[in-house]
Amino acid sequence: MKKIAILTSGGDSQGMNSAIRAVTRSALANNFEVYGVRRGFKGLIDNDFVKLGTKEVSDILYRGGTFLQSARSESFKTPEGQAKGVENLKAKGIDYVVVIGGDGSYRGAQALHRHGIKTYGLPGTIDNDIPLTDYTIGFDTTLNLVTDLVGNLRDTMSSHERVSVIETMGRNCGDIALQAGIASGVDAILIPEVEPDLEKVAASVKAGFDRGKSHSIIIVAEGAGEAPEVAKKIKELSGLDTRATVLGHIQRGGSPSSFDRVFSSRLGHRVIELIQEGITGVGLGIESNQLTHHTFDEIFNAKNTIDLKLYQIFQDLV
Ligand code: F6P
Repeated sequence: MKKIAILTSGGDSQGMNSAIRAVTRSALANNFEVYGVRRGFKGLIDNDFVKLGTKEVSDILYRGGTFLQSARSESFKTPEGQAKGVENLKAKGIDYVVVIGGDGSYRGAQALHRHGIKTYGLPGTIDNDIPLTDYTIGFDTTLNLVTDLVGNLRDTMSSHERVSVIETMGRNCGDIALQAGIASGVDAILIPEVEPDLEKVAASVKAGFDRGKSHSIIIVAEGAGEAPEVAKKIKELSGLDTRATVLGHIQRGGSPSSFDRVFSSRLGHRVIELIQEGITGVGLGIESNQLTHHTFDEIFNAKNTIDLKLYQIFQDLV
């Protein structure tokens, strides 16, 4: 009987649970034996496996987080850590491993592949920063969440005639800020992909208040700056009452959106098809609504880009 293990690694994201469920149930339907690895690559080194049946993955489709839990393992970056993980997999007779996570997790997946383990990557991160996929698991949920939170802040900023500077996650990628900013109709978006001009932003915010606006919202991606510092600068330049909000980890929780549930279900199911097609050592994704897969080398050699046309659209609509 073929054996497959699933692990989630790095920062969690909404939809990881639905991806685990999809891989597990598709594998069981094809007579695989399925294992979950607890706490990502750390669990691989610690030999922390749990057998998964259909019952173990029931009631998780709509839950945020990852029931297998996650970790950022420094040890798995070392040759000794990798050798130990591979040894544990081989001792259990596990032929296939599915790694659900972001960029760092894909590095771990690539290492496993190089050690001869048949490995598959599913893009699980809210950041939407993995090359060769239009979306990552969790991004859509986070986008909806941030859009709601910006709405809440707008209410109170409006009552007090204030400027709100809101910091979103995303590491070096501005996609959460950009798309949530467009969806929320904010006044300025600061992202790492576009050189910021705070003087221009302050002048346009001030002009808005002079025209009678009751509030102003500036959204800043964490890769482009820190909200408290940006807020201080905007206050200095505009003289307006300004507040900073760092959204932080609240962006990573909550029930996955329908999109993320369907997307992760499709990806999880596709892994088992790829196994049957004899394709291995790949990260999966979605491009133009078609599921795709690329080797880890192809993914690491490609550059993640955001859609700068969206930034242009924002500028024309603001
Ligand atoms: O990669 C996901 C992410 O949430 C980033 O957006 C953020 O920079 C980072 O993880 C936060 O990491 P941690 O949960 O370790 O604080």
